Amino acid sequence: MKTFFLSIAILFAQTIYAQSPLLIPSTISGANIELNLQNGTHQFYGGQITNTMGANGGILGPTILLNKGDFVNFTVNNQIGETTTIHWHGLHVSADNDGGPHTTIASGAAWNPAFTVLDKAATYWYHPHLHYKTNEHVSKGIAGFIIVTDNEEAALDIPRTYGVDDFPMVLQTKDFDANNQIIVPSNADDVAMVNATIDPYLDAPAQVIRIRLLNGSSQRVFNVGLSDDQPFYQIASDGGLLAEPNQTTRLLLTPGERAEILIDFTGKNGQTIYLKSYASELPNGIYGATNPGNNASMVLDGYNPNPLNGADFNMLQFNIIAQTASPVTIIPTNLVDVTPLLESTANTTRTLTFSPVSMGMDQLNGEFLINDVSFDMGVINYTIPFDNTEIWELTNQSAIAHPFHIHDVQFYVLTRNGAAPPISERGRKDVILVKPQETVRFITKFETFADATVPYMYHCHMLTHEDGGMMGQFAVNTPLAVADNRLALKANLYPNPTTGSITLNLEAKIEANHIKIYDQTGKELTNYGLELQGEKIQIYGLPKGLFVLQVNTEAMSISKKIIVQ
Ligand code: C2O
Ligand code: CU
Ligand code: CU
Repeated sequence: MKTFFLSIAILFAQTIYAQSPLLIPSTISGANIELNLQNGTHQFYGGQITNTMGANGGILGPTILLNKGDFVNFTVNNQIGETTTIHWHGLHVSADNDGGPHTTIASGAAWNPAFTVLDKAATYWYHPHLHYKTNEHVSKGIAGFIIVTDNEEAALDIPRTYGVDDFPMVLQTKDFDANNQIIVPSNADDVAMVNATIDPYLDAPAQVIRIRLLNGSSQRVFNVGLSDDQPFYQIASDGGLLAEPNQTTRLLLTPGERAEILIDFTGKNGQTIYLKSYASELPNGIYGATNPGNNASMVLDGYNPNPLNGADFNMLQFNIIAQTASPVTIIPTNLVDVTPLLESTANTTRTLTFSPVSMGMDQLNGEFLINDVSFDMGVINYTIPFDNTEIWELTNQSAIAHPFHIHDVQFYVLTRNGAAPPISERGRKDVILVKPQETVRFITKFETFADATVPYMYHCHMLTHEDGGMMGQFAVNTPLAVADNRLALKANLYPNPTTGSITLNLEAKIEANHIKIYDQTGKELTNYGLELQGEKIQIYGLPKGLFVLQVNTEAMSISKKIIVQ
């Protein structure tokens, strides 16, 4: 504990608040996007620099700009000195491209996902997802925005000039030791920051501005508001624009969640307004409230005292400046058509119950279970029929709120404790906070991608809980695929990209006629060599290009992309 340093920091914060300009991540776009994951340093405070991790820089990562419909090739080079993964949080991509814990990038290796952007205009993000290491890699700094645009969004008269009237803001809290190094994991995250900037200020024009909020904290929930209590307008939830702006003075943002908001600063030139978290208004039972458990006598190790818990604090200072040349000054009345899936179209309901490992008074320290089990890389918890429409019913029987996240799909909330969800939760979502004793039901459809071997994840987005095993996985299968719920066969293909030879390692024997390679037009390749060595298959003499390798037996079906350079 560093209470002494803490109290000095608070004194300082009051006198020299808002001393650094908000860092705005650079942008990256086009058909080929390269991310270099690297170790770096960052000057959070005066004094000692902090060791960090980032993508294409020392901390955070560039904002990736994508258009719906684009086909994009990625190269993710892992230079952090240890294995990691990169997950495209919120994007609807194949399991192979999803970057979950099975899709590891070894130290020094490159990963080449490639996919068509199928999602609606919204704010998504990318971050590492290695089992047991997600919290460390994210907290040390790897996290970036993904902004997807589409025609619907382009037709609206809303701000969209990046860094001018449209600003990404990742809200985080971290814990630093006496040498300014980040402590992970920690329940004593007492330093708030936006875009890795402590005490940031932003010169914002006196007009309507758009902010893309992301809660990139490992655990903390924010209750966002403005210091003058002026209303602002939520226009998007995690995975899409809302039907109409949601006027509000507070917005709850849980780890992993995004919201786009419009703020009207028209006529306020010269004023100073703060973006705050009104955490004093959070009910107990949420990480960020006075008590993280809904039973006030439950203790989370290291959590209190902390000046951020249950108190209102500033995240960022807006210095309102002159308008830009062609400002947006009107909040639109309508946005896009939102057509939630109808409850009557669901053909399966799954119930997921969250509980602590031990029901006792020390339960907040974890770990937490979903349906009484902890995450097992070798177990597929659900095998979901392709194209199935499902209702997932989430019940929280623990004393702390959990932000539940599912990969592959966006969902619509049907009910929260039997009632219609608040307006803020009526759009496309991929994270939902389930408070103690609550039941939340959502509906979604598992379409487009089937893969019997690489599963998708669902988990609590409090990264301590996720790393602690509050996670499960599902495969979306065609009716012909394996019924077995074990990961019978795991394919390991290397090197990829290759210059012509590639090795495929399986956990069972297969025969030459189980393997087929197709080119991009779907034509089967025949001019290559194949050598079977038990569970290992060598493929050689491949021509240059992008191919799909398929292994098909009665027991499994694997598709892997091969790049021959
Ligand atoms: Cu944002 Cu499975 O993660
Ligand atoms: Cu995700
Ligand atoms: Cu949790």
